[in-house]
Amino acid sequence: MSFIAKLFNAPIPLDFRGMTDWHSHVLPGVDDGATTLDDSLAILKGYEELGIDEVWLTPHIMEDMPNSVEKLRRAFLELETAFQGKIKLHLAAENMIDTLFAKRLASGELLPIGPGGKTLLVETSYFNPPMGFVKTIEGIKSNGYTPLVAHPERYAYVESFDEYESWKDMGCAFQLNLLSLGGYYGVRAEKISRLMLKKEMYDYVGTDIHKPVQLEAMKKLRLPKELVEGIERLFEKNKY
Ligand SMILES: [Fe+2]
Repeated sequence: MSFIAKLFNAPIPLDFRGMTDWHSHVLPGVDDGATTLDDSLAILKGYEELGIDEVWLTPHIMEDMPNSVEKLRRAFLELETAFQGKIKLHLAAENMIDTLFAKRLASGELLPIGPGGKTLLVETSYFNPPMGFVKTIEGIKSNGYTPLVAHPERYAYVESFDEYESWKDMGCAFQLNLLSLGGYYGVRAEKISRLMLKKEMYDYVGTDIHKPVQLEAMKKLRLPKELVEGIERLFEKNKY
C-alpha cells in the first residue's frame, strides 16, 4: 500500500457532536450502570464536552433487576431535576427477553423508546439463545411495537451471519454498540459489528455506557474513515 493510501486509511476519531445516544445506563442506582448520582452527572458532563445532544436512558428490566416502570420514572425525575446541563434526557428501558418481559408485554407495563413510543429495545443473554425467540418477536409485533435488538453483534450463541439476516426478515431493527467496533467487547463483536455496519444493517446506534470510565474509551476510539462515515450517517438518521 502506498504512503498516500495508508494515510487515507489511517484510523480517525469520531465526531460526537449532535449525537443522540440511544442506549445508556446513566440512570443511577437501578441496574449495573451508574451507581450514584455523581456517576450519572460525571457521564453527562463528559457527554456535554463531546457535544452529545440527547440521551435515552435505557436501564435494564429483567428477572434479576425487576425495575418497575413507576420506580424508573421516579428515578428519572430525580436525575432530570439534579441535572442542570443542556442535554435532553429521555426514559426508556432495555428489556431482557425472559418470563418477566412476557408478563410486562401482556400487561402493557412498558417503557418504549423513540418518538411515538412504538419501539421496544430488547436484549437476550450473551451466551444462550432465548427460549421462544421467534414467538416473542411475533408477540412484540402483534402488540404494535417494532422490536429493536440491542447489540446483536455481541450474542456469542449466534452461529452464522444468516441468522442475523433472518432476524431482520422477521421485522427486527438492530442497534449497534459503538464500542463494539473498537474491539471493546472482543474480536468477534468487533468483526461482526464492522460487517453489519458496512452492510447497513444497523438502524440505531448507542454507547451502552455504564460507568464514567467508558468516556475515555469513546474518546480513544479510532476507526477507518469508511466506518466513521457509516456511523455519522446513523447519527444523522437517529436524530428527531
Ligand atoms: Fe445495555
